[in-house]
Amino acid sequence: MIDEAKSPEPSRRKFLNWLLGTSVGGLLLATGFPVSRYLIPPEAAESAATTVRLPFGPEEVPPNTAKIFKFGSKAGILVRTPAGELRAFEATCTHLNCTVQYREDIGHIWCACHNGHFDLNGINISGPPPRPLEQFVVNELADQIVVSKGT
Ligand code: FES
Repeated sequence: MIDEAKSPEPSRRKFLNWLLGTSVGGLLLATGFPVSRYLIPPEAAESAATTVRLPFGPEEVPPNTAKIFKFGSKAGILVRTPAGELRAFEATCTHLNCTVQYREDIGHIWCACHNGHFDLNGINISGPPPRPLEQFVVNELADQIVVSKGT
């Protein structure tokens, strides 16, 4: 009969249990962090700029097009709707901070990173973005466009 207390089996079993436990723990950490970053978007820092004069004029933005501009340390997007109205938004996607673009073919602001869609009011209408885009105030002054935060 084999003496179980002196058998090498328990330490081998302990080692295998430890190895399996740490492997599963490592796997959970390695997959859990990226998944949590995907599901819980990071907070974006505030830009210091409150008003910018755009480096292009209103005539350079025909209907159903858009241009990206610099708004402080961030990007903004100026859209001229098919009806001819100018609207500006922060161009940072509210999901994981990719820069959005305007899709003339569907008339949406679109984020290529994870196929997020925003309507022409900046409202998130499809895909993973959790919040609307921040909308800016647009003032057309003769041949200039001035964009500001708030009212
Ligand atoms: S960053 Fe994910 S949809 Fe824009």
